[in-house]
Amino acid sequence: MWTRSALSLMAGLGLASATLAADDLANLTADARDVTGQLLRQISGELKREYQLSGSLRSVVVCKYTAPEVSSALSRKNGVVVKRVSLRVRNPSLGSPDPWEQKVLEAFDRRRAAGESGEQIEFGEIVQEPVGRYYRYMKAIPMAEFCVACHGTREAISPATLAQIASEYPHDQAIGYAVGELRGAVTYKKPL
Ligand code: HEC
Repeated sequence: MWTRSALSLMAGLGLASATLAADDLANLTADARDVTGQLLRQISGELKREYQLSGSLRSVVVCKYTAPEVSSALSRKNGVVVKRVSLRVRNPSLGSPDPWEQKVLEAFDRRRAAGESGEQIEFGEIVQEPVGRYYRYMKAIPMAEFCVACHGTREAISPATLAQIASEYPHDQAIGYAVGELRGAVTYKKPL
């Protein structure tokens, strides 16, 4: 008799924890979408404002200080790491992907090549790393028309802006992109 009730208790617990896990995952994904959305809106808001005021030349310097500041403020506030990464970076110290991010970025490029819209591409999962468990999430960042002034082909960027980029970022790899191509992704990592 006790065996049957123990079994049904176990089945009940199993079901409860499976449901909980699905709920948890949905919540984690919702939080990740929220925080990564804030990062992109804040950076592009600052950049567009500065661009309209002073054009691409000075905006390069503003972006150089604003983007890392926005990333670290949002990361601290939410107890996560949130920032932008790319397979071809401008800022190698902030934007270089780790192995998980590199795999996801490559998968994003394949998904886009297969016809998926860059605006829709995202991926999240729970990852076990040597130091702990994390929820990790990434969302693709497609090139818009506005981005070409600083990430387009050499011909599309003004000579003064090119010179400014070269002096601020001597190892820049982040030019030569066409509108619609993926410039990179925003990445989010939350300890569980
Ligand atoms: C005024 C020039 C300028 C414009 C316009 C611009 N960017 Fe950037 N972008 C930069 C600079 C400078 C950095 C490096 C910021 C840093 O030091 O963290 C950068 C970095 C990035 C990064 C982080 C990865 C890396 O390479 O370091 C991404 C992703 C990115 N830009 C995407 C975009 C997209 C998408 C647009 C259009 C919506 C855009 N940028 C428009 C100047 C610009």
